[in-house]
Amino acid sequence: MSSQDIPEEKLPAERASAPGAVDVADEKNPFADPGLPPHEHRIQDVDERAAKRSERTVALLFTVSMLATVAFIAAFVAIPVDKAVYVWPLGHISALNLALGLTLGLALFCIGAGAVHWARTLMSDVEIADERHPIEASPEVRAKVHADFRQGAKESALGRRKLIRNTMFGALTLVPLSGVVLLRDLGPLPEEKLRHTLWKRGKLLVNMNTNEPLRPSDVAVGSLTFAKPEGLEEHDHDFQNEIAKAALMIVRLQPGDIKDKRELEWSHEGIVAYSKICTHVGCPISLYEQQTHHVLCPCHQSTFDLSDGARVIFGPAGHALPQLRIGVNDEGYLEALGDFEEPVGPAFWERG
Ligand code: FES
Repeated sequence: MSSQDIPEEKLPAERASAPGAVDVADEKNPFADPGLPPHEHRIQDVDERAAKRSERTVALLFTVSMLATVAFIAAFVAIPVDKAVYVWPLGHISALNLALGLTLGLALFCIGAGAVHWARTLMSDVEIADERHPIEASPEVRAKVHADFRQGAKESALGRRKLIRNTMFGALTLVPLSGVVLLRDLGPLPEEKLRHTLWKRGKLLVNMNTNEPLRPSDVAVGSLTFAKPEGLEEHDHDFQNEIAKAALMIVRLQPGDIKDKRELEWSHEGIVAYSKICTHVGCPISLYEQQTHHVLCPCHQSTFDLSDGARVIFGPAGHALPQLRIGVNDEGYLEALGDFEEPVGPAFWERG
């Protein structure tokens, strides 16, 4: 393209002063046309040799794309599926996948790069202003649409054939119900399963490390012991679901250190049992400070005071940890005296 080929359209600066153009603010057009910067011709617009160079570059990119596509097909045919090559830093990978990826990627890249280079250097770059116009249709167009609609309704006899109309509306109303029915696949509903755990009166507290029932003498002051309900074994098919609700922390405090009255009543000789599941988003709590009786959740640092009803003293958890009421059976083993009275785990479930 040479400078002679440039269209004779008016450039923005010229348009601004054309009849009807807005270049100064007035009452009707309160904003002056800011205009566009003066148009600058590209080197390809004024130098035929530069335009030829761009043309050759674009043609080269498209040619490389063609060759890459041929190479893609050749690789697909020639490279065995099980051949591996070493590529740093990926290690050993499939030679076929590598060849297909590289050749196809190159073919697509060259098409895109060629198109972009073509558009940026050789296609017309004359700025065109498109004047705004009212969005609403003209009265004639609206009248025609109404007339067409009435004509269509008349020809379909929708108003006259009420049986067809009513059954069609019925069918259109009912058909979305198929999507609603599919929601059933999200079930079954959890019902009360999330509100109850395996703990119940008489269930022994079993040490999760030794798998032995716990006696009060097994729990030393200052230690943290994890416990599960008797009968729950790791090979049970729902072990993970059940332990995620029933896992316990057992701590022995000096009874005089327990500030919360209910906590003292639900403990045995200073031994307290709390849910191990953080009430924020359910991480297992595992850090215990024996001096302060605080337990800390490692996920977001919620901190609970085990000497004061496990209330939250820091962090995002919304509730105290649920406490399990415990006692000792006739054989001297620690046992639960019921289930948790609140849902364990994240505050999402709320109480009640
Ligand atoms: S899960 Fe425990 S603080 Fe977030």
